[in-house]
Amino acid sequence: MCGIVGYIGDKNVYPILIGGLQRLEYRGYDSAGIAIFNEDLKVYKCKGKVSDLENYVASKDVHGTVGMGHTRWATHGEPNDTNAHPHTSMNGNFVLVHNGIIENYAEIKSDLIKKGIVFKTETDTEVLCNLIEFYYEKGENVSAELAVRMALSKIVGAYGIVVFCKNEPDKLIAARKGSPLVVGIGRGEYFLASDATPIVEYTDSMIYLNDEDVAIVSKDGLTLKTIQNDPVAFKVTKVDLSIGDLEKGNFEHFMLKEIFEQPKTIADTFRGRIKADQSDIVLGGLIDVFPKLLAADRIIIIGCGTSWHAALVGEYMIEEYARIPVEVEYASEFRYRKPILGEKDVVIAISQSGETADTLAALKMAKEMGATILGVCNVVGSSISRETDGGVYTHAGVEIGVASTKAFTAQVTVMIMLALKLAKEKGTIAPELYGSLIRDLAEVPGKVKSILVKHPHIKEIAEKYKDAVNALYLGRGYLFPVALEGALKLKEISYIHAEGYAAGEMKHGPIALVDTNLPVVVVAAKDSYYEKIVSNIQEVKARKGNIIAVVTEGDSHLKEMCNDVFEIPKSHPAIAPLLAIIPLQLFSYYIAVLRGCNVDQPRNLAKSVTVE
Ligand code: G6P
Repeated sequence: MCGIVGYIGDKNVYPILIGGLQRLEYRGYDSAGIAIFNEDLKVYKCKGKVSDLENYVASKDVHGTVGMGHTRWATHGEPNDTNAHPHTSMNGNFVLVHNGIIENYAEIKSDLIKKGIVFKTETDTEVLCNLIEFYYEKGENVSAELAVRMALSKIVGAYGIVVFCKNEPDKLIAARKGSPLVVGIGRGEYFLASDATPIVEYTDSMIYLNDEDVAIVSKDGLTLKTIQNDPVAFKVTKVDLSIGDLEKGNFEHFMLKEIFEQPKTIADTFRGRIKADQSDIVLGGLIDVFPKLLAADRIIIIGCGTSWHAALVGEYMIEEYARIPVEVEYASEFRYRKPILGEKDVVIAISQSGETADTLAALKMAKEMGATILGVCNVVGSSISRETDGGVYTHAGVEIGVASTKAFTAQVTVMIMLALKLAKEKGTIAPELYGSLIRDLAEVPGKVKSILVKHPHIKEIAEKYKDAVNALYLGRGYLFPVALEGALKLKEISYIHAEGYAAGEMKHGPIALVDTNLPVVVVAAKDSYYEKIVSNIQEVKARKGNIIAVVTEGDSHLKEMCNDVFEIPKSHPAIAPLLAIIPLQLFSYYIAVLRGCNVDQPRNLAKSVTVE
């Protein structure tokens, strides 16, 4: 969602801000803006893309060495030029960018209006900006920093902010609660950003702010304190990210690049965790908490979107092999539905970004209720990974495409390793099966490669179905989450309405949709459900639906029955999700491209949903 970049130092700030905003585009946004100070304060902002902003400022004065930029994903107030950030306070003393939601903004706004403050926008952010100015002007000797801290102490909600005060132009003030913010340390210069991507080309030394931290940066140094003015010791993290990771290379889109990276990223996920002789699994980040996992009454896996689908694979596998009861919950439901939780529960949050607001809040709630909390995150140093008692990084590398692909297969890989390790330690899996499943997992990268080379065939099939209005995805067992994920991919990027369903549920509703126009994608690899899913295919065929099936190589029976097939190599059923999802990712990618959609930045979607 909203992206923030800020800079103070000796460099010309404009290219840093615009370049940073371009790097933040992947988060999802609808307007963009910058504020630059050079004797006076200049604020330029507009609805649309960063390129629109560049055109807009082309003939404007953008000189200065201190400034901030923002990409806005609208929450309060429609996306337009006025509501775009940065926001300035009524008397122009302060300028501010914000990611998050100020929940009590309406109350504060009506108080400020009574005091004569006039608002220009419909945003919650402008309320915070004016509240800061109100404290600054009201008290005697109130510094900008004190005014910021006073205002923040009145705020309910989430924020990552960067604030500049015209009367104290030698500093930027940043703070976070609930929304991520990182400080990049250069030589005589500091960077501020929502994540490392916009600043990594300048520095790899970063400080990840914690909730209620306030950072004051100037050319001469950094002060970190709490909202209550207590000093905070900071930890500098070296970020391992290269510019190449942030670029498309020879691929047309980030999504395609990321789909094709999967042989490597899946291997990166299990590298060093599967022992060289493939006889055991070591999950270093869980060693301390493993006794708790083994003794757990129940494991609850929470997540949103694609991560929730990976959780479902985890549920099936942990229950089947480790025989520990597992529940999978949408984080957004779990946090509000008053669940029963205690010390014998382990809650695992799956999150690519590690910043999803609902997942983070649900996890904090579980912690307060005494559960052990673990994380499966991709972004190193993210809020969820810092909140947990232990966890496993997925090591998929930066994922820029909004539609998650390589993060999903990395998450599933972690779920498979976790289930197997638990099963081994509990003694619920035969040693031969344990060994053979590890070997199967080790073979996945090669098998994924063999699917990817068939992309021209998948593109041909996409051409046939690109004009569909609806699509139904069906799967059973381990392939049910794959059906859900396949449908999500299609709807996210091509805007075709797609539903994923457990094939056994088809007769309870979706079958009513089947006609000659409906593509029905059936994930039908050879497993113990095979005969049943073949019957489902017959039922669709009898009603003249178009069947596109993901089948195991050599399945001539289904090849004859279905209109089109994507073949995947033979594998153990529990491993099959890692293979079956690949053609479905490519299928939705090609359909979206053929429909002329913006694949990497689909409308209304955000890569990281940092507000609930
Ligand atoms: C957004 C993204 C999805 C992602 C979901 C959960 O909706 O567009 O791709 O699956 O958030 O994100 P997380 O970072 O928690 O995995």
